Amino acid sequence: MHISTKSCSILAIFTVAALLRSVTSAKYSRFRLADVQRSSTNNVPCTCAIFLTGQFNRFNRTEQPKGNPGIQLELMQHYPCTASGNKQCSNKCLDSIVKHLPNSQNVICATIDRDCFRERAYLFYQNCAPRWVNSNISAGKEFCCQNDTPMRCSLMAELIRQSLRENNANNTTGTSSEEQNVSNR
Ligand SMILES: *[C@@H]1O[C@H](CO)[C@@H](O)[C@H](O)[C@H]1NC(C)=O
Ligand SMILES: *[C@@H]1O[C@H](CO)[C@@H](O)[C@H](O)[C@H]1NC(C)=O
Ligand SMILES: *[C@@H]1O[C@H](CO)[C@@H](O)[C@H](O)[C@H]1NC(C)=O
Ligand SMILES: *[C@@H]1O[C@H](CO)[C@@H](O)[C@H](O)[C@H]1NC(C)=O
Ligand SMILES: *[C@@H]1O[C@H](CO)[C@@H](O)[C@H](O)[C@H]1NC(C)=O
Repeated sequence: MHISTKSCSILAIFTVAALLRSVTSAKYSRFRLADVQRSSTNNVPCTCAIFLTGQFNRFNRTEQPKGNPGIQLELMQHYPCTASGNKQCSNKCLDSIVKHLPNSQNVICATIDRDCFRERAYLFYQNCAPRWVNSNISAGKEFCCQNDTPMRCSLMAELIRQSLRENNANNTTGTSSEEQNVSNR
């Protein structure tokens, strides 16, 4: 098991790289199309995606995430349309994506189509129904992106602080914010 993990990782990294080139319709097909059960009425195969915290509502789980997923993988594989099938799909997604998240900042920043500051990546999946379900699994890492490329969060924080300082310096009337202390270090 451990020996094959490495080669799987490499395969998956290539997969992620390929995804960048065909963002919307990436297919990770380890299984022949013929093997896919097409008879099922709810036939959305297990599909995985990464959304950042700025893209979904944590308090309303029926609301669908907005914008492009950072990464999307359609596993050409069907699982039962039950709680345990959902669990299988989400575990499979976990194996396929999340382990590689620490290395996929480039992919994510290039794909989300906006800047982000200290957002976490969450794993979502679809199984049977065409609705994203939040697996509640996240990469511990925080992502920072500017102009489609990754940026060190500490550097971005400094830039944000600087621009707030400039704003405050021009506005002598402001009294409310915690950014008030312009001159402290
Ligand atoms: C949650 O989002 C759904 C879909 O956008 C909406 O219909 C529903 O009213 C929302 N629920 C709450 C409690 O806001
Ligand atoms: C994620 O957590 C929420 C709230 O804690 C829970 O309602 C939901 O069922 C969980 N989702 C999954 C897929 O475990
Ligand atoms: C100053 O305050 C105004 C109104 O409160 C706000 O719109 C503006 O963005 C602030 N900054 C500058 C540089 O004017
Ligand atoms: C603040 O004012 C200075 C000088 O008037 C100006 O150059 C600068 O662009 C202003 N900063 C912002 C954020 O508006
Ligand atoms: C600003 O600095 C003063 C002392 O320099 C401190 O007492 C105060 O709590 C600070 N306020 C904020 C909002 O950080």
